[in-house]
Amino acid sequence: TSPKSLEGKTILITAGPTYEAIDPVRFIGNHSSGKMGYSLAEEASKRGAKVILISGPSSQKIEDKNIDLHKVTSAKEMLEKVFEFYHLVDIGIASAAVADYAPKEVAREKIKKNDSTLTIELIKNPDILKTMGEKKSHQLLVGFALETQNEDENAKTKLAKKNLDMIVLNSLRDQGAGFKNDTNKIKIFTKTTEKEFDLKSKDEVAKDILNFIEEQFLK
Ligand code: PMT
Repeated sequence: TSPKSLEGKTILITAGPTYEAIDPVRFIGNHSSGKMGYSLAEEASKRGAKVILISGPSSQKIEDKNIDLHKVTSAKEMLEKVFEFYHLVDIGIASAAVADYAPKEVAREKIKKNDSTLTIELIKNPDILKTMGEKKSHQLLVGFALETQNEDENAKTKLAKKNLDMIVLNSLRDQGAGFKNDTNKIKIFTKTTEKEFDLKSKDEVAKDILNFIEEQFLK
């Protein structure tokens, strides 16, 4: 790849977790740090792409002033932000760990711990990537699959169900893969190919993912 191999491309990347409020002090979240998505954003920008990074709560910092960073909190906010830009992008990469469910109602005051049990009713959040797949016109769409079992099968199902061109599998069964770590171990699937990679830093993994996209889809 030449240094500016993504010149002229606009890439939207989702990153980090989403937080779904329970009350003014509590939320449902997950362990995503945002590292994988921020590494992808930095690398894509280095290659000359215009990068729109839509991130849930994360302490990751972006050094690159050219990256257009939008911070959101909940899945609903992430969905809205994504569709502000989706029509403008050439490539969408969904690395965010979006909460699948959110509390049906957000308590206005801090919930008191009076009883020995507490029931919170949850309702399904929008599937952002699936919606992107449904509204796909010219975009190349890349998803992630975070799995703990039947990894390949689940990843391939997500590739088809969400109308993706490519999916990046990471399994929590692999040491050093997935959440929080500075490293990840991935396997990429398209409709016709698959490729497995070694454990590497997330910066290196981002390079592998973008190299793969360039080789498979942009040549
Ligand atoms: O942030 P890090 O700590 O660096 O960790 C990186 C990561 C493990 C979060 C990342 O590599 C990863 O796997 N991200 C996807 C996590 C996930 O939620 O996977 P999933 O298999 O549940 O979802 C499949 C795909 O649909 C993902 O692209 C996800 O972004 C998307 N999705 C899921 C649910 C939903 N409501 N909306 C979505 O867009």
